[in-house]
Amino acid sequence: MINRVNERVKDIVVPGIRVFSNEVMQYKDGVNLTIGEPDFPTPDPVKQAGIEAIQNNLTGYSHNAGLLELREKVSLFFEEKYGFHYDPVTEIVITTGASEGIDSILRTILTEGDEVIMPAPIYSGYEPIVHLSGAKVVYLDTMKTDLLPCPDELEGLISEKTKAIILNYPSNPTGMTLNKEQMDGLVKVLERHDIFIISDEIYSENSFNEEHVSFASYPEIRNKLFLIHGLSKSHAMTGWRLGYVLGPKELMEHVLKVHLYNSICAALPSQYAGIEALTNSRNTPLKMNTAYLERRDYVYERLTAMGLSVIKPTGAFYIFPSIDMTGLTSWDFATKLLDSELVAVVPGSTFTTYGEGFIRISYANSMENLVEGMDRIERFIKVNC
Ligand SMILES: Cc1ncc(COP(=O)(O)O)c(C=O)c1O
Repeated sequence: MINRVNERVKDIVVPGIRVFSNEVMQYKDGVNLTIGEPDFPTPDPVKQAGIEAIQNNLTGYSHNAGLLELREKVSLFFEEKYGFHYDPVTEIVITTGASEGIDSILRTILTEGDEVIMPAPIYSGYEPIVHLSGAKVVYLDTMKTDLLPCPDELEGLISEKTKAIILNYPSNPTGMTLNKEQMDGLVKVLERHDIFIISDEIYSENSFNEEHVSFASYPEIRNKLFLIHGLSKSHAMTGWRLGYVLGPKELMEHVLKVHLYNSICAALPSQYAGIEALTNSRNTPLKMNTAYLERRDYVYERLTAMGLSVIKPTGAFYIFPSIDMTGLTSWDFATKLLDSELVAVVPGSTFTTYGEGFIRISYANSMENLVEGMDRIERFIKVNC
């Protein structure tokens, strides 16, 4: 029967993140620097809200778009924090993690032959979904522009076939953020073209240098913009599977249909926990950021002292050093490091071929693990260079 499986599904592969993290988990003494999730527990009041929902038998379906009360909290959060408004009744859908939001949007807009532009290197969660729709990704190379997308180069990639662009700032895997001026430049290009803009801002709460600015705060592109967000990263809630998609009413009507046929609705106890997260636990990310900043600086200094070239990240919780000087491919580097030092990192090639020559380290990890991980990487580099 295998020859009857959808060829496009056969084409897609398990991401490198999982390959190396599954491997390192077998070793008692392993140090796992791969996984992109906070090493903090979900805040107690948020957990309690979920527990109470279960105890009160709030365990059924909700409205397909999610509890109105949660959508109102999502709306209020963006209004108060980022200064733009989305109507909770018609413009917000609660999804099963941001991942389901990405899937629902892409399946709403893409058909065979479409092209989707993405700055690269980029998170590995988009390309497979684009591929499953029969569409194709066109990469915007950021390697010569300090890992940031250049507006003129973007303009040059837009064609008749371009259906959408996916942006993800703060970025996984690079940790780069965009400032207002850089965003203005991109918006000037995007406003001239009839293409959808999918902005995945799931790391907006982990923005270190300056306050995050959302692409949704530009009225000139709002009619074609989808904003993806959720609580996985900001509130250490990866396992609760709670995300949200915001967009114009006439587009969200269609996203809602795709969403309801794949999920019906997000898990109800998680939605109650989400209400608490966006009401009384809004400051959770601030506490985590204090720890992330200390860890980022530590890891940055250690990598630099090892002679690796690296741009200091300004958001998310990843750092993306070049391993060029070792002469190894990123996959070989990660494999040898794991074999010899039991440290798992993610090869840059996981984030498209543009990430070749780099590795991604997640510093959402205890200081103890980071110290041990850096000591072992240093030893590995001494032996291999
Ligand atoms: C950029 C980005 N978007 C989306 C996701 C998925 O988020 P969720 O766990 O809410 O599905 C991740 C997870 O690593 C991510 O890095």
